[in-house]
Amino acid sequence: MADLLGEIANRKSPRAFQSRPVEEDKIQLLLQAFQWAPSSYNKQPWRIVLATNPHVLAQMHEGIMTGNRRWAVKAPVLAVIVSQIAADDVRHDNALPYFLYDCGQATMSLVLQAEHMGLRCHQMAGWEQGPIREALGIPEGEQPIVLMAIGYEGDIADLDERSREKEMLPRTRKELREFAFRDRWGNPA
Ligand SMILES: Cc1cc2nc3c(=O)[nH]c(=O)nc-3n(C[C@H](O)[C@H](O)[C@H](O)COP(=O)(O)O)c2cc1C
Repeated sequence: MADLLGEIANRKSPRAFQSRPVEEDKIQLLLQAFQWAPSSYNKQPWRIVLATNPHVLAQMHEGIMTGNRRWAVKAPVLAVIVSQIAADDVRHDNALPYFLYDCGQATMSLVLQAEHMGLRCHQMAGWEQGPIREALGIPEGEQPIVLMAIGYEGDIADLDERSREKEMLPRTRKELREFAFRDRWGNPA
């Protein structure tokens, strides 16, 4: 019988990371997974800046909001997903900001490749643009979208108390019937 892809079923966004570095060949595969995502008109609006240099990481830590900083400082890799906003398609009635959608898909490709290689990722919206732009030299006209901690999962015993409490909460999802329909809006799928 078919089953859910292991990388999807097991993926999670942990707070506990080991400080152990991520191997260079794995970093390159993460980038290839990001590269090969689909995008509207194949515009590939995504960019990614990965940081592993301790000085750069320390500068980035300054831009991470307190609740995230508590745990994210341990991660050996921090990545920022950036998009060129001008790459958005506005030629149709359907003028949605597809650049965000494209970046999301590329990010999920990277996340699943990470899972496949025994790594974990934790995406964050809780950070400040200024210090992160400054730390990485991100130019004007390029929009940082999401920050991501990448590494091997660590031991929750090493977390501070507040992070540990959050980490121990059960992972939940809405029921399928709340958002997945068949043949007509509202019909259970
Ligand atoms: C765009 C985005 C922003 C997020 N921002 C944060 C954040 O700032 N801090 C945090 O702890 N988790 C953050 N998360 C992680 C989510 O809270 C997490 O994915 C969600 O609770 C589901 O848990 P799971 O990824 O383990 O399935 C973010 C996730 C995404 C996709």
